[in-house]
Amino acid sequence: MNRPAPVSRILGTGHYLPEKIVTNDELSTYVDTSDAWIQERTGIRQRHVAEPAIATSDMAAEAAKRALEAAGVAASEIDLILVATVTPDHQLPATAVFVQQKIGAGPVPSLDLAAAGAGLVYGLTIADQFIASGAAKRVLVVGVELLSRILDWKDRTTCVLFGDGAGAVILGPAEESTAANGKRQGLLATHIQSDATLAQSLWIPAGGTRLPITAALIDEAENKVHMKGQDIFKVAVKNLFSSSKKVLEKSGLGPDDIDWICPHQANLRIIDSAVNMLGADKEKVLVNIDRVGNTSSASIPILLDESIRSGKVKSGDTVLMCALGAGISWGAAIVTI
Ligand code: ACO
Repeated sequence: MNRPAPVSRILGTGHYLPEKIVTNDELSTYVDTSDAWIQERTGIRQRHVAEPAIATSDMAAEAAKRALEAAGVAASEIDLILVATVTPDHQLPATAVFVQQKIGAGPVPSLDLAAAGAGLVYGLTIADQFIASGAAKRVLVVGVELLSRILDWKDRTTCVLFGDGAGAVILGPAEESTAANGKRQGLLATHIQSDATLAQSLWIPAGGTRLPITAALIDEAENKVHMKGQDIFKVAVKNLFSSSKKVLEKSGLGPDDIDWICPHQANLRIIDSAVNMLGADKEKVLVNIDRVGNTSSASIPILLDESIRSGKVKSGDTVLMCALGAGISWGAAIVTI
């Protein structure tokens, strides 16, 4: 389904990474692993870890303030806040309301989205619909995770993969905006999907209503991330490829029309395999997994903002984002910056 013109566009981006860095060598003092194994199997060298005083909404608000500044938009102009996270400040209420308070936004609708690694693509898709319907004009979408708090630091199969951080995007109507290179700016296509078949291949068994944290005899590890890595690996390659193909079809573009691929940073081998299947040029692939690890919902917006601020991704460039996370939830989006 081709869309004649984009309805929304990215007005600005921002990100925040906590100062503290944990290297693979430091990790190998807690669990039986090595820098060589982690780099070879995942591409990760280090990850950022938030200090105990920092909460998810603190990181989200920092990223949001940077995105607002880049967009030249005041917090009071934001009329919808979407916070993609699987590591909320509290089970109740939504982290988005704390973000609203911390950035000084008005009493606008503010809600959380739990789509893990696919969070930003879900957020963009929903924001685009609100802008298309006229219900919102300035939407803040944040992807944020404080995964270090939900990891079992004794489990080498998960704790080496993840990191903390936040990324934010401000969206507004595309109107007639044109980049310096003459391209129409905006979101050209999105695609999102979920399938519970592998829900228990990446999950936290306890802490929800099925197995409350207050239940007797809970093993502490039950309240931490459990993952069947190989199940996720296979489906990640397949679904990153299929959703990328879908948005290329929807937008009427081919791999050669894409300037940059901004994939979810879960594993360098997953990214390489999906890009190979797509037949896209490897030089176009943006990567920061070596420095940041897998930050789930925050992965794509951190990478996008870093790439824009470094001058790599320029106004008028067309970017393909593709992501997959727990759920399993996945999706893709194409946007001209
Ligand atoms: N250090 C050293 N050895 C390890 C480590 C480690 N950190 N972790 C596992 N191993 C060992 C295993 O125990 C196993 O040993 P064995 O052969 O003696 O049994 C061996 O390494 C191989 O294990 P595999 O699981 O086969 O390793 P694989 O190559 O599949 O890599 C990995 C594991 C990195 C987890 C991979 O499967 C993966 O990346 N899967 C996708 C996970 C993912 O991306 N999840 C998040 C996506 S969703 C989201 O972002 C929210």
